[in-house]
Amino acid sequence: MVKVGVIGVGGWGKNHLRVLKELNVLSSFCDIDITKVKMYEERYGIKGYTSVDEMLKNEDLDAVTICTPTSTHYEIGMKTIGLGLDTFIEKPLTYSSREGEELVSLAREKNVILTVGYIERFNPAVIELKKILKNGEVGEPLLLEFHRENRWAGQVRDVGVVMDTSVHDIDTARWIFEKEPKLVFARTGKVISDYEDFATIILGFDREKTAFITSNWVTPKRVRQLITVCTNGIVTIDFITQEIKIDDNERTIIPRKEWQEPLMLELKSFIDCVRRREPPLIKGEDGVNITKIAEAALISSQIGSPIYLQLG
Ligand SMILES: NC(=O)c1ccc[n+]([C@@H]2O[C@H](COP(=O)([O-])OP(=O)(O)OC[C@H]3O[C@@H](n4cnc5c(N)ncnc54)[C@H](O)[C@@H]3O)[C@@H](O)[C@H]2O)c1
Repeated sequence: MVKVGVIGVGGWGKNHLRVLKELNVLSSFCDIDITKVKMYEERYGIKGYTSVDEMLKNEDLDAVTICTPTSTHYEIGMKTIGLGLDTFIEKPLTYSSREGEELVSLAREKNVILTVGYIERFNPAVIELKKILKNGEVGEPLLLEFHRENRWAGQVRDVGVVMDTSVHDIDTARWIFEKEPKLVFARTGKVISDYEDFATIILGFDREKTAFITSNWVTPKRVRQLITVCTNGIVTIDFITQEIKIDDNERTIIPRKEWQEPLMLELKSFIDCVRRREPPLIKGEDGVNITKIAEAALISSQIGSPIYLQLG
């Protein structure tokens, strides 16, 4: 039986608690907020802690999921990986790519599974899109157009929209093109937050293939969409409803698929990797590269020029 502890049970970590309980692997949790600790101790009938160190000292865990704010991921990850625990860190892996590289190298040294919460890889609509592209029915993907827009209640206090939100689409673009971008150009601005709250990022891939990423925390309507323009058709997916639309020369096809919770699929996959000692779909190195691309986007928006990258 795999025993998992959740670190940070705020807006998102509370979903980890629920899903891991359902998967029958939830062993303990911690959060610096005592009110949350008491509430979830009662709800799930397990012991919670107000400090990471206390939880790690008292509990015999196999793995943890880290759902604290981005700026804390490095310090907490160094502790859990250092203790030899398989570690799932919510996106983005770390505040800086340099910190991410240290986590990756420690995980390698300790032979620990390290993965990052780029959840859209487990979205059934993205899984279906990958299948459609693989079987060639719409030809080769050339252009990706992402929209991820929603007014934000201001709960993210340590990073802006690029590190928090655009990173999902940066990862999906790499996943669809199966390559790292060579060029990043971005424009960002802020109207209601302390950090940038709207961003447009252009990622240039091999053979002029391009991803166009629009993210914002400003507009009131919640939109999460990807249009994939291919040589023989266009595939549109909605990340929220998981609907897929395929348009080719002759017809529009809307395949009917059952909605499934991406977090359930994502955490189940992590637990399976822990059980079988298999490498995760999203490796620590992916997390580092995504952070490097986001960092390049922020620099590009400051200097007004494209940044050329050579990612391993
Ligand atoms: N995959 C996704 O779709 C998705 C969605 C939302 C958030 N996230 C990620 O999850 C993480 C958390 O985001 P959130 O929205 O839940 O933030 P949040 O602020 O709502 O929750 C963070 C929680 O961590 C606790 N905390 C802070 N420092 C701590 C520490 N040192 N030890 C223990 N607990 C600590 C806080 O008290 C709080 O309860 C971020 O990395 C965010 O990017 C991912």
